[in-house]
Amino acid sequence: MADLKTNTAGILSPNPFWLASAPPTNTGDQIMRAFDAGWGGAVWKTLGQPIVNTWSRYGALDINGVKIMGLNNIELITDRPLEVNLREITEVKKRYPNHAVIVSLMVEANREAWHTIVKQAEDAGADGLELNFGCPHGMSERGMGAAVGQVPEYTQQITEWVKEVAKTPVLVKLTPNIADIRYAARAAKQGGGDGVSLINTINSIIGLDFDTLAPRPTVNGWGSHGGYCGPAVKPIALNMISQIGTDDETLGLPISGIGGVSSWQDAVEFIALGSTSVQVCTLVMHYGFRVIEDLCDGLSNYLDERNMTLDELRGVALPRIHHWKELDLNYVVNASINQEECIGCGLCYTACEDGAHQAIHSERRADGRTFVEVMPDACVGCNLCSLVCPVDNCITMIQIPTDYAPCSWEQHSAGTGTLAPRPQDKLYAQLATAKKEEAPAT
Ligand SMILES: Cc1cc2nc3c(=O)[nH]c(=O)nc-3n(C[C@H](O)[C@H](O)[C@H](O)COP(=O)(O)O)c2cc1C
Ligand code: SF4
Ligand code: SF4
Repeated sequence: MADLKTNTAGILSPNPFWLASAPPTNTGDQIMRAFDAGWGGAVWKTLGQPIVNTWSRYGALDINGVKIMGLNNIELITDRPLEVNLREITEVKKRYPNHAVIVSLMVEANREAWHTIVKQAEDAGADGLELNFGCPHGMSERGMGAAVGQVPEYTQQITEWVKEVAKTPVLVKLTPNIADIRYAARAAKQGGGDGVSLINTINSIIGLDFDTLAPRPTVNGWGSHGGYCGPAVKPIALNMISQIGTDDETLGLPISGIGGVSSWQDAVEFIALGSTSVQVCTLVMHYGFRVIEDLCDGLSNYLDERNMTLDELRGVALPRIHHWKELDLNYVVNASINQEECIGCGLCYTACEDGAHQAIHSERRADGRTFVEVMPDACVGCNLCSLVCPVDNCITMIQIPTDYAPCSWEQHSAGTGTLAPRPQDKLYAQLATAKKEEAPAT
């Protein structure tokens, strides 16, 4: 069993899996049950000035009967009294000294208010702090959450205030509702933040109530934009994490990765792109604390099978991320259909014909079956047919060897590389000639 112990910016946990700050970390009782189930850490539901929540708070995006592919909420920070939360933090730390208890904080942009809440959280026993500069709804209307995270100067300023008094590591939780996440991460680092957590939720309207045409979740006939999370947001989170991991100014800044983690495979991706710990919310809201067993077992087996440590996995994918202009334009692939596996559904033909490059020939055979085959001269290797094919490994993408050395757009435009002739060149040349012949004389 691989060693999953983790050190995120100085916060130690028995494994990299933390509950994200959200309803699963509302109370000490929940967090203690989660630790018993196997979670390595928990970020307490954000503490701040007392708030009042609406009653209707969550809306979901189901796709083709699959529930909660995306989750939307208009919930604010904790609505429990501060003293109760602080007392429970102390109790949890006393009973679980080796687990990570990180306390999420959000107060108004006032230096004294930040100093006070930092001291209260640390006196209660927090192992680390997470500054919630990400909440995109409600709190942002009051100048907090994403209203801070969207302005790098505010992010830096408040992080500096916190660092003036904090004795434990400080993670700055970033909002994805921003044009370029690197500016926010740089500001967090400039302000002295020990690491960043991302992503918080994405600003969204999940859909409408079809009776009233008000946004869901509906509150007495009205709705509001809310924060979007769950499996559907993972690709956005992965990209933002990789941007921070590859930026010269934030290289090496510890990252707690969040956003749509639903399986151990997702966790592998977050870690390979540079996360040290991985936070989870929607998966637990959907299925409960016991999902941790599969997350830990899966990650541990993956590492064992590759004879790899967690530290070796971290960031291992980053050197493979490049700018488009650096990719090899002489790398040619074609779709290849395994006729033994094909069930003749015709989905690949329709997708390629209407949505791609008209490179699949389809015909009805005498036995009534649909026969499909790829026309190599027309196929541009876009992958679409293999993505729509319902049979695993029926359509594979096969590399077509070329005598040409790799050549990127950058090399081609600098005159230092040669582009191999494309299979389509002949076809495009014919089309161009035909057009010329058809064109009326001027
Ligand atoms: C109902 C709900 C309440 C949340 N409350 C908070 C919060 O108080 N503080 C915070 O930093 N993030 C909050 N979040 C955001 C989560 O911590 C997390 O960043 C987000 O849900 C993405 O993770 P996921 O895709 O695993 O759900 C909340 C999310 C949900 C769904
Ligand atoms: S890879 Fe793209 S172009 Fe080639 S056959 Fe499939 S869908 Fe058509
Ligand atoms: S989508 Fe797959 S199974 Fe269906 S016709 Fe194409 S190759 Fe055959």
